[in-house]
Amino acid sequence: MIKLERVEKEIDCPIHGKQKAVAIYFPDESKESAYERIDASYCPLCKSTKDQIEDDKLKAEEEKQKAKEVDKAIENAGVYKDNFYADLSTVKDKYFFDLLKDLATGKINTLVIVGSEGRGKTYMAIACMREYAKQDYNRFNKIIYDTASGIARKVRSAIGGRKLTEQDVFSYYADADFLVVDEMGKSNNTDYNSSLMSDLFDSRLSNFKSTIIISNLSPKELSEAYLDAPLRSRILRGGKGVIAEKKGEDLRRIL
Ligand SMILES: Nc1ncnc2c1ncn2[C@@H]1O[C@H](COP(=O)(O)OP(=O)(O)OP(=O)(O)O)[C@@H](O)[C@H]1O
Ligand SMILES: [Mg+2]
Ligand SMILES: [Zn+2]
Repeated sequence: MIKLERVEKEIDCPIHGKQKAVAIYFPDESKESAYERIDASYCPLCKSTKDQIEDDKLKAEEEKQKAKEVDKAIENAGVYKDNFYADLSTVKDKYFFDLLKDLATGKINTLVIVGSEGRGKTYMAIACMREYAKQDYNRFNKIIYDTASGIARKVRSAIGGRKLTEQDVFSYYADADFLVVDEMGKSNNTDYNSSLMSDLFDSRLSNFKSTIIISNLSPKELSEAYLDAPLRSRILRGGKGVIAEKKGEDLRRIL
């Protein structure tokens, strides 16, 4: 085995003056070549600045690449248009910021956001999804955004299907690590939709999956139509969940 040895030598850097340079050489090499290596070594201060710049460049490049991949994941999750670039850092409501952070990091599993139009409900949900995805590349294929009616339509259309069964489509939503169900209760509340949603949330709660449910309905209306008392209690307790109302102004009018 060849042993490496460190040799220190004072050099005269044109920028930093006298510096102790460190060279690494093979002791069994000829003296001559060992000295060559020492002379070829450079000022430690120059080296550290150079390394720092290289590091910063690499880091910036990595960040850029990662941001691109997160965007792609958000797109694949089914997010579109104005809330696409929603980011947690821009959520100013401290109460919701903390809730979203808790959901993104798994401290709570379910968040039900109710509130009138334009309060920023969808924006916050996407921001949370982005925060969740950012933490782990493995999560990129397991995040989904859809409306309640979109989910119902897709599950329904698979009934009796040959390629995909109703169960397959149901599982697609039930098994996603992070699911946003937007506009709950906006379209007609049929018995089918209602029991489908209950089954979906029930399944996700059992498997400790992260879910955001968004609705314009009042908490009371939402409870009556989709979240009956047992389910609600599971969301709040077993699901470590929170039902919260987003108040404030209609952002579509003031932004
Ligand atoms: N923190 C924010 N920073 C910048 N834009 C925001 C922010 N929050 C919300 N918005 C913008 O405000 C508008 C309304 O927000 P959003 O679509 O989330 O409302 P909503 O509560 O989901 O409304 P609806 O019930 O009608 O779906 C959107 O254009 C959204 O991009
Ligand atoms: Mg919305
Ligand atoms: Zn130097």
